[in-house]
Amino acid sequence: MKFENKAVFITGGGGYIGGTAARMFAKEGAFVAVCDINQETVDKTVNDIVNEGGRAIGIALNVTNSKEVDEAVLKTVETFGHIDIMVHVAGGSARARSRMLIDQTDDVIQDIIGVNMFGGIYASRAAAREMVKAGNKGRIINISSVVALNGLRGHADYAAAKGGLIAMSRSLAKELAPYGITVNTVAPGIVQRPGETNDAVNTNFLGEKCTAEDVAHVIMFLSSEEAHFITGQTYVVDGGRGLAMKGTDV
Ligand SMILES: NC(=O)c1ccc[n+]([C@@H]2O[C@H](COP(=O)([O-])OP(=O)(O)OC[C@H]3O[C@@H](n4cnc5c(N)ncnc54)[C@H](O)[C@@H]3O)[C@@H](O)[C@H]2O)c1
Repeated sequence: MKFENKAVFITGGGGYIGGTAARMFAKEGAFVAVCDINQETVDKTVNDIVNEGGRAIGIALNVTNSKEVDEAVLKTVETFGHIDIMVHVAGGSARARSRMLIDQTDDVIQDIIGVNMFGGIYASRAAAREMVKAGNKGRIINISSVVALNGLRGHADYAAAKGGLIAMSRSLAKELAPYGITVNTVAPGIVQRPGETNDAVNTNFLGEKCTAEDVAHVIMFLSSEEAHFITGQTYVVDGGRGLAMKGTDV
């Protein structure tokens, strides 16, 4: 199995993309620390993994609290002996609270930048400290969005947070390169969550729906041995959505 005995720390592990990645890593032999603010979905992901014969622990945490993130990483190392892969998936846009920036409130801006960007910085830092200490050539992956690269009306706060993750990851890639640790970002387009009914198929040139598995496959590639020479990069998974130009689609 590809990730036999690797320890993976995933934030947002109770969500659609994070939960899917957690289950896929476990199927490939990894030990998974499933971290999320939602205890119920943490338990669900952990139970799914354990019921399929995998090994996982669940940690309820708020990624905007660096102390909780540090403690969760330490618990992962205590439990599994090491941390090899950190994937920061927790986050999302303001959804119903999204507004044009001129109408947006401080609370929402701070929430969105908090979970998406501060969460990624704290989790990357905590994981990197343990990887460096152990001399472990680990992998750090932050989930961004095509919104960071292309912009989206009503989502300036989210774009800033996701763009900040890309910028942070590029600098961290340089800082950690001497240790053989790679740092990359994955930028999905629209990934329709279960129960959502948006017209996702018509937002990309392939005319297909992007699944959480499509994103998780890229996360797993960047986490693999084969990707050891890739660092500081952003992998876009959007069916060509970001190729569009205003006024034309050819
Ligand atoms: N779904 C998409 O279309 C899409 C597109 C581009 C990027 N993304 C990014 O992918 C990631 C996962 O999205 P998803 O579609 O799986 O959404 P999701 O809502 O299913 O998952 C997000 C998870 O983050 C958790 N979370 C929220 N705040 C937290 C906090 N403060 N501390 C810890 N956990 C917290 C939630 O409980 C949830 O389980 C997000 O970062 C999102 O911005 C999603």
